[in-house]
Amino acid sequence: MTETKPIGQRTHDCGTLTAQDIGRSVNLAGWVDTRRDHGGLIFIDLRDRAGITQVVFNPEINPSIHQQAHQLRNEYCIAIHGKVRSRPEGMANPNLKTGEIEVLVDEYQLLNTSKTPPFTLEDTAEVSEAIRLRYRYLDLRRPGLQKNFFIRHQAIRFIRNFLDQKGFCDVETPFLTKSTPEGARDYLVPSRVQQGKFFALPQSPQLFKQLLMVAGFDRYYQVVRCFRDEDLRADRQPEFTQLDMEMSFITEEDICNLIEELICQLFKQILEMEIPKPFRRLTYEEAMNRYGTDRPDLRFGLEIVDLTALVKESEVKVFSEAAQKGGCIKAIRVPKGAAFSRKELDDLVGLAQEWGAKGLAWAKINPEGWQSPLAKFFKEDERKVIDRTLEALPGDLILFQADVPSVVHEVLGKVRLHLGMQIPLPKDRFEFTWVLQFPLLEYRVEEGRYGAVHHPFTSPLEEDLSLLESQPEKVRSRAYDLVLNGNEIGGGSIRIHQRTLQERIFNVLKISTEEAEEKFGFLLEALEMGAPPHGGIAFGLDRLVMLMTGAQSLREVIAFPKTQKAVCPLTNAPTNVGRIQLNELGLRLDIRK
Ligand code: AMO
Ligand code: AMP
Repeated sequence: MTETKPIGQRTHDCGTLTAQDIGRSVNLAGWVDTRRDHGGLIFIDLRDRAGITQVVFNPEINPSIHQQAHQLRNEYCIAIHGKVRSRPEGMANPNLKTGEIEVLVDEYQLLNTSKTPPFTLEDTAEVSEAIRLRYRYLDLRRPGLQKNFFIRHQAIRFIRNFLDQKGFCDVETPFLTKSTPEGARDYLVPSRVQQGKFFALPQSPQLFKQLLMVAGFDRYYQVVRCFRDEDLRADRQPEFTQLDMEMSFITEEDICNLIEELICQLFKQILEMEIPKPFRRLTYEEAMNRYGTDRPDLRFGLEIVDLTALVKESEVKVFSEAAQKGGCIKAIRVPKGAAFSRKELDDLVGLAQEWGAKGLAWAKINPEGWQSPLAKFFKEDERKVIDRTLEALPGDLILFQADVPSVVHEVLGKVRLHLGMQIPLPKDRFEFTWVLQFPLLEYRVEEGRYGAVHHPFTSPLEEDLSLLESQPEKVRSRAYDLVLNGNEIGGGSIRIHQRTLQERIFNVLKISTEEAEEKFGFLLEALEMGAPPHGGIAFGLDRLVMLMTGAQSLREVIAFPKTQKAVCPLTNAPTNVGRIQLNELGLRLDIRK
């Protein structure tokens, strides 16, 4: 069973050989993960993307290459030829697939040396992000990080096959295009041929996918890059990938069902996990009332409960005043929270204030009754009613918030999340929920007009249409988000497919006829050419993969990401450009610092 390939041409990768291969002659190639000198023997852990194999240089087999092996350092790239043998008694490594064997080297080739890497590649190494991204090709050698990219690859392959079977067609749409309003700033590309004019990189393929529906494609998808110039966070990159979809002649129900089937099969295939179907469905209003946010994390309870009717006439001034002004009083019961120290409570109140609260009242439920600054304002039976409403038991803590609903929801939503994050949650817990019927419009104080909550092509709920001009903020939309563990992983809507309604919406948004014509004339025109009813959704594919892999940041699932400051430390992009290039574009810089 001797392989006759020349050294350097591999017979196996470094993750394959087991006791069954003992006696085989093999060629391996890869990087020196570690080198250990033990008396006469030199042990190298040879690493490639498949794993690690221990190779041994023995002076008695080949003194000259054994001598050379003394020079090997971490990350040198080498090829070896040798014979697979069993590791000596008691030396097997059960944590390694190749842990039962080693390869005794009889031939060896140094393919390349390596400077000392600026950081060790051990997955646990604490290295600053800037250094990791500057040497990303080394960072990406880490097995833990590489694993994320194989999961990403498998997930995309699975999704493509799934959608293919469901009759979806993958169609590419332009990158050099016109502004698409998804709520961020555009990245602009100057035109050389049409000087003074600019393309915008797409924030999403939204309008093109709608045009594909007008064109009769029926079911479209694309794994597509989107570009948004916005403030970056751990879950936001300036360029990111969407799984973008659009379908004709469908309802919200059809889309939810299809996506649930996709997600459940995906998690089964890639993570071997059963996700129960159907997913939970909350209206936006319910989500706000019960969790204080439109992307609730449902891995824990800590639900928000409305106490307005119970306490609006109480002697607690902050409560009665809030109620009189049309506000509300809501509370969270924290199981076992009575154990919080005074300092822990003070810190929580401090945080609530940072989040916009005037204060955060509390009551510890002790066996002998309430311990609370509010206790004196309530009679015994009133306290009991509050306890019962919240299902509070001795040992629990109640946190109260009184204000206008937006503040109450914001504050208690954040308090809830803050407390929830302190509960030890299993890593493989995935709680999906749909959030449906988002408001169509929101008032933008700084602009003095209404803006679209999703985007301006979202269809209003038929039954709310009569409120469009009189009470725009009351109109609900046919938009939905898919939320996973408190992250918005996807969003979409049923679209407007008739010009008259689209123009009515532009009108409410105070987009003039001229502006609408200039920006979206092509869409309005298409809507008059037999546009079918249609709708769709887009997933943040990076976010989905981040959650599937348990990564903490999008940077762990994007090969060459940007930093928080939207730069690439590896290439140093963005960079200056020379005068000649600017002249060609008809541009002159005018940078005021
Ligand atoms: P939306 O703007 O909600 O919808 O985007 C869809 C999904 O994309 C992800 N996402 C991001 N991921 C990483 N970095 C970012 N900067 C970023 N911004 C958004 C989110 C989000 O849910 N055209 C519509 C979709 C539709 O209506 O069909 C759209 O783009 O996970
Ligand atoms: P004060 O009347 O300011 O001494 O507040 C009495 C208690 O009510 C304190 O525990 C405050 O933190 C709390 N508190 C103040 N304002 C609010 C509010 N808007 N909602 C809930 N609790 C509040």
